[in-house]
Amino acid sequence: MKKRNLAVIKEVLHEAVKKSGFDVDLDHLHVEKTKDAKHGDFSTNVAMLLAGKAGKRPADVAEDVVKNIKSDLFEKVEIAGPGFINVWVVQKFYTEECQLLCENIEDYVQEIVGIKFGSKTMVSDTSHPNVAKPMGVHHLLSTIIGDAIIKNYRTLGWKVVSDNYIGDWGTQFGKLIYAIKTWGDKKAIQADPIDQLLSLYVRFHDEAEKNVELEQFGRAEFKKLEDGDKENRELLNYIVKVSLEEFEKIYKRLNVKYDLTNGESFYENKMATILEEGRKNGVFVDGNEGAWIVMPDDPNDPPALVKKSDGATLYLTRDLAQTAYWEDEYHPDVMLWVVDVAQSLHFKQRFHASNKLGQTSAKMVYANFGRMQFKDKKMSTRKGNILKLEEVLDEAEERAFALAKERATELSEAEVKELSRIMGIGSIKYNVLSQNRIQNIVFDWDRMLSFEGNSAPYLMYTATRAKSLIKKGDISTRDASKFDLSFTETLEKEVALQLMMYPDALRRAADEFKPNHIANYLYALAQDFNTMYNALPVLNADSEDHKNTRLLLTASVQRVMEHGLGILGIEVPEKM
Ligand code: ARG
Repeated sequence: MKKRNLAVIKEVLHEAVKKSGFDVDLDHLHVEKTKDAKHGDFSTNVAMLLAGKAGKRPADVAEDVVKNIKSDLFEKVEIAGPGFINVWVVQKFYTEECQLLCENIEDYVQEIVGIKFGSKTMVSDTSHPNVAKPMGVHHLLSTIIGDAIIKNYRTLGWKVVSDNYIGDWGTQFGKLIYAIKTWGDKKAIQADPIDQLLSLYVRFHDEAEKNVELEQFGRAEFKKLEDGDKENRELLNYIVKVSLEEFEKIYKRLNVKYDLTNGESFYENKMATILEEGRKNGVFVDGNEGAWIVMPDDPNDPPALVKKSDGATLYLTRDLAQTAYWEDEYHPDVMLWVVDVAQSLHFKQRFHASNKLGQTSAKMVYANFGRMQFKDKKMSTRKGNILKLEEVLDEAEERAFALAKERATELSEAEVKELSRIMGIGSIKYNVLSQNRIQNIVFDWDRMLSFEGNSAPYLMYTATRAKSLIKKGDISTRDASKFDLSFTETLEKEVALQLMMYPDALRRAADEFKPNHIANYLYALAQDFNTMYNALPVLNADSEDHKNTRLLLTASVQRVMEHGLGILGIEVPEKM
């Protein structure tokens, strides 16, 4: 498979490194875009890296490497500072890259990674709300972040099986069933299932404070459920059904889909084998009063419970069954969980138990995320701490509507509506995805819906601007892809250099399971493009060469913006 862009540059440098008698893993050979055109187009610190290991002076190593560069890719090479190697790349290279990118961006980005399409498999567990409750804010995060990671891997040629592991099993459903049977009003439940189920559950807890017997009744109902009682099973099925209908409304608006919805209850009949095996292998040892536990490696951690003294299984037991099932069914290379950081201990325990059981050789990834932090006090406290996602999405669209009406005066009412949907949902998504998921995610309406700065409207506006330039030039992207680049201005070259970094941003986002690398890349590209656009005429350029150069760059930017936003699950409006 042919490599492109940064990968080509890396390869040439890698060859030179090897010829000089050194070796470095390609993954550790970093090539960065320079900050200042004075220092070339790209720069690598590989000489410093090698010198450290070899006990030599970095400048000497750099000199060796440079001497061994055998390629006409570079028009100039220079050693700078403590041993950086700076390179100037020939213009023809950029032309070919941009042309390829315009012709078929899907192929273009896959070539970089160099894996055969579909040869690697990932199974993912994202979104995973709990039934009988409205979806929480952290589920919005696990849904949006998860979806972008999945889309990115698929773009890079991976096969991804996306699973939605809904919370639909556990002792709490015994309590809920008890509450439904005791206080439930069928009509009211049918009219407004989720709110009713939630308040019945709350009522159970209130009453249980006064009457401790209730806990036992709840347990008894769950036991019946486990033993296959028909009525209880039907009740649970009903609860799951109405909950999925609610979730589906949100998923539809966010435009996310899952290959599987194997919730916790799916593993109900798959836990016995796990328990037996773990027991046989001595991984599950005796805890208190007949309970089974896994001892931690770290003496500061509590032991992990896999079977309670009354024989009941736990969340952890089902999670272990999930890993076993995924392994049997898909033999994946990666297993991914995009889950709230609050579950860190749980995931530590689960991975520890999986490893002890030898469940899989897949890389197990816990891509955790922080809390949503609201700038707007009203948001976090509204309706007793339950923030309705539906209302958040409605508000985003309403705010976007006001904005669109004010700005896009030449659009029809229907166009404004469509634009505000795209902008509203896009802003919510981009706000989440442009932040480092490890930290708390700040939710700020003003920043989110601003046309300036790192926001969805800014990027959408840039993409539509590029699109309309191409249209106004009366050419197609295909036409533009036949043009040649002939840079005269640094600003043009800046855009070209930034374009070359796109696949690297995707790769990095995939490696670290962090979509914010894609978002931040797109923001940088948009800024470079807008700087060029504001300084240099495109359609009225002073020569045909200049015009074609800028049109090819514009077409490339448009392709990348739309493609990258697509990975983030964000649409680009036709007009805005
Ligand atoms: N349903 C759980 C919750 O909302 C998250 C499930 C995460 N996935 C897992 N395999 N444990 O807290």
